[in-house]
Amino acid sequence: MSSDFDQIINRDNTRAIKLEFRQRNFGNADVLPLWVADMDFAAPPAVQEALLNRFKHPIYGYTNRPQPFFDAITGWLQRRFNWDVPSSWVDFSPGVVPNLGLAVQAFTNPGDGVVIQPPVYPPFFGVVTDFGRKVIENPLIEAEDGYKIDFEHFEKVTAHPDTKLFLLCHPHNPVGRVWNDDELRQMGEICIKNNVIIISDEIHCDLTLFGHVHKPLATLSSEISNITITCMAPSKTFNLAGFSTSYMIAENPNLLQGIRSLIHGYHLHMGNTFGPLALEAAYNQSEAWLEDLKRYLEGNVNLVADFVNVNMPEVIVRKPEATYLLWMDFREWGLESSELKQFMIQKAGLGLNDGPTFGTQGKGFQRMNVASPRSIIQQALNQLYEARKTLK
Ligand SMILES: Cc1ncc(COP(=O)(O)O)c(C=O)c1O
Repeated sequence: MSSDFDQIINRDNTRAIKLEFRQRNFGNADVLPLWVADMDFAAPPAVQEALLNRFKHPIYGYTNRPQPFFDAITGWLQRRFNWDVPSSWVDFSPGVVPNLGLAVQAFTNPGDGVVIQPPVYPPFFGVVTDFGRKVIENPLIEAEDGYKIDFEHFEKVTAHPDTKLFLLCHPHNPVGRVWNDDELRQMGEICIKNNVIIISDEIHCDLTLFGHVHKPLATLSSEISNITITCMAPSKTFNLAGFSTSYMIAENPNLLQGIRSLIHGYHLHMGNTFGPLALEAAYNQSEAWLEDLKRYLEGNVNLVADFVNVNMPEVIVRKPEATYLLWMDFREWGLESSELKQFMIQKAGLGLNDGPTFGTQGKGFQRMNVASPRSIIQQALNQLYEARKTLK
């Protein structure tokens, strides 16, 4: 059965980073672009309609975010996560990564430690080091049945007097884990004990697959909620990253105010005219589209996992519990990091994210974005299979 997601939409001349930065990133403008985490799918029809209607009015001056913006968010959190959030806990932010950087500035001083759990989305390192803070790594443990948290080490690093902040990635990019209640509770309680504030990046929360359920960290207990700022956005879910529109949620007004004062100080609160309209149309009218998307992504994940299993069983692909990002383990090939990277570009013609950019733990891994029409994913697999024949 064909689906709208099967349609190949030409993104040339749209200034898409995924396409246009290929030369810069891979030294080759022709690799199949399966890297930057956006999707090669059209945004939901209701979103397109809302934007087109607004675009028809020719004046694009300053605009605000009235109550319907907040109602769309709180309604979404209620329906999707059974989380009752008053709008006073919610505020706009111009992106989740900006929010992480602002949190680092708001809640730590130069030289303080910030805990992250590599392999992890590369900006988790940058938002700490760019402001002169120290990255404190609590590497994930790689077990037979998937990645786990090293609680013993987590306890040790959070107890260090210099540690002030923990950046949690939930669901975790790139390993695809949706942390379960036990894991969330343990992380939360250890941070409470050690006076460490948590920024919970939950940008991938809507993209749970194969029946996995996302529980926002802050819903575990009021004590955990009190030390947590949750960052969410419709950008990954509905393919709206170009609008730089996200939001944060904090029950503790001091935490919300800590970031809000920086956002206002830098005058980042204006945002843009279109992002909030896109968010509202997505959250209020596009739930069915999201369910269809998730089924399609599961199909793509299954395609890759089955293909690899049959045709190159030495490569390990664990199905993600959430996200459209596959963390593929090529260590059996025995290539050096630079060789693996060049193999993907030159031999396989693929533009993937190189494992070591997620931390040293990513050596021997590549991250593949499967949010593309299935025929493109099949093409990528065929190219990989052909290239593999050249391995000694
Ligand atoms: C975990 C995570 N956080 C944040 C972002 C980007 O957020 P934003 O575009 O809102 O800065 C991404 C994008 O891939 C991500 O994977």
